[in-house]
Amino acid sequence: MNKRRILTGDRASGQLHLGHYIGSIVNRLKLQETYDCFFLIADYHAFTTGYEKPEEIRASSRGIFVDYLSVGLDPDKSTLFLQSAIPEHAELYLLFNMLVTIARAQRIPTLKDKLEDMHLEEGLASLGLLSYPVLQAADILIYKANVVPVGDDQLSHLELTREIARRFNHLYGETFPEPEALLSDFSRLPGIDGQKKMSKSLGNDIAFAHSAAEVGNRVSAMVTDPAKIRKNDPGHPNICTVFAFHQAFNKRNTPVIAEACRMGQLGCVEDKRNLARILNELLDPIRMRRQELLTHPDQLEEIFAFGTEKARQVARSTMEEVRMKMRLGTPLFSRNSP
Ligand code: TRP
Repeated sequence: MNKRRILTGDRASGQLHLGHYIGSIVNRLKLQETYDCFFLIADYHAFTTGYEKPEEIRASSRGIFVDYLSVGLDPDKSTLFLQSAIPEHAELYLLFNMLVTIARAQRIPTLKDKLEDMHLEEGLASLGLLSYPVLQAADILIYKANVVPVGDDQLSHLELTREIARRFNHLYGETFPEPEALLSDFSRLPGIDGQKKMSKSLGNDIAFAHSAAEVGNRVSAMVTDPAKIRKNDPGHPNICTVFAFHQAFNKRNTPVIAEACRMGQLGCVEDKRNLARILNELLDPIRMRRQELLTHPDQLEEIFAFGTEKARQVARSTMEEVRMKMRLGTPLFSRNSP
């Protein structure tokens, strides 16, 4: 039986952190056992805002690739690849841009969020940023993916992807499946500063690449209940960042921790020490694999080339079909011209 296909990925801005781990990686590790998974590092997407810093994007792509391998995404089960290594994405993106109106692209809510983050007026964003979700549709449809695991912030992009698939199929003939979103059941991990979302650009992350000592420092810096000053003060776990991390990474001990905190039997210092130990137990093997891989760049390049080749074959074949259906390219005159 043919396995259903999954495509998902990460924008090449920064390295992977615990927010990715709990929000998507755990899920992917399971999915790769039963689906035909394609995991993409979206470096073109990173250029929609980071075009002035190609070196940073490159470094991020390398980091994420190594993160993927060290966390256990398996190149023998899944296809791990870099978007810009498959220029067919850019070609399909170009063609999809014809199928989306400017007004439709402007209505996508992530655009407004991004502009706010960047303190930019709408007219001053690049066209690339406006059509970011069109590129994402090309990423997904070029592999004819059936299922796309994403966070809820990406649902509007999936909706557009389905619209593009329908429109293409209607205009040029049945070609693309309409992919469905698969939401992860874990809601967002906060940053160490207690902000809603962990993110490298906010500097509130705990990354796979951080050393054990750095993880300890970052856990120490977490914000706890401001009313709990001494160990004996009764605490409120529901407003404590450390507790939110226990819920994500130490679930079965949360009732005991909550109780001890409320009763003034567990102080924040000790609580943080415990959390740092738990996180480091999780991260130690990932860090070790990371270090090990980084000492073998030739082997990394080989694994990278293997993924590129697998992805490229699929992307090429879809583009041949697309060109044929849209009557593009060669030959122009001979009898087997499209
Ligand atoms: N936009 C996604 C994000 O910010 C990254 C991404 C790019 C993606 N192409 C994709 C996700 C295709 C799923 C499918 O997280």
